[in-house]
Amino acid sequence: MKIFATKILPEISKEIFIQNQIEVQEWKYDEPISKKDLIQILPEFDGLMVMGTKIDEEILNFAKQLKAISLISVGFDNVDIAATTKLRIPVSNTPEVLNEATAETAFLLMQNVARKAFFNYKLMLDGKPKSGFMENLGIDLNGKTIGIFGLGRIGFVMAEKCKNAFGMNVIYHNRSQNQKAENELKAKYVSFDELLENSDVLSIHSALTLETERLFGKNAFQKMKKSSILINTSRGKVVDEPALIEAIQNGEIWGAGLDVSDPEPMLPENPLLQMPNVAVLPHIGSANWETRNAMGKLAAENMVLALKGEKMKTPINPEIY
Ligand code: DGY
Repeated sequence: MKIFATKILPEISKEIFIQNQIEVQEWKYDEPISKKDLIQILPEFDGLMVMGTKIDEEILNFAKQLKAISLISVGFDNVDIAATTKLRIPVSNTPEVLNEATAETAFLLMQNVARKAFFNYKLMLDGKPKSGFMENLGIDLNGKTIGIFGLGRIGFVMAEKCKNAFGMNVIYHNRSQNQKAENELKAKYVSFDELLENSDVLSIHSALTLETERLFGKNAFQKMKKSSILINTSRGKVVDEPALIEAIQNGEIWGAGLDVSDPEPMLPENPLLQMPNVAVLPHIGSANWETRNAMGKLAAENMVLALKGEKMKTPINPEIY
């Protein structure tokens, strides 16, 4: 069996493939693989390991031999799942193993924005004199309200950290109520508008879907507190970036912390990168050694199972079995 990986794999994934006599070919170039290259390369492979690459129906139709797709990510908005299901190709992702790391990134951004940490660091690099006593001040997070949009696995960990570290009250909006969060964190389910109106920090943890695409736009920002902070570690397209720039410039919200953007990475000329109350990271949510290895292990195990004709551990389209 032969599989293709759209980026260089963690060593642990390759060890698992060697143990299972699976041959691996990786895309080793800095430039992401193009659709044209994928269409050309894929027909000879049995499996595909995907790290962020867009896989659409046209690509899949050319991949005549493909028996499985294993994503090394929890998000799967980059793959046409309906098309894989139609073609009876099993697909898996890597949930759970990155909950802590991604929530930590949201927490890091929240603290960073609240204390303008990146901005103060830039002032120092630029050799600017120390700010005055009442200049470049941050805001206190203690006892404030954290609003979670999409209280699933990662949102829960973020809410838990906010409650434990700063005694924050937790409110959330979700497709369904989260009983565990209500019991353990005293989290309160609210409508989307109530979430916007009452959050001091609003952290987005939803998937990118037709319903969530650009949901955080002009209308939403106008309903938020002028003192609020928006955090996004999910997908850049959930936020309307030009509207966010305007909202911060007009003082409709206080600031933002973004691990994701649209496009990605954020272009150097984007005004968000110069704003004192904004912290931006280049999509490093799951980027620590332990987490990336755990993702690599789970993704490789999923692929091995699928190539043996068995059910993957964390399938996205289990209905095909
Ligand atoms: C994920 O796993 O979906 C993260 O965003 C990393 O890409």
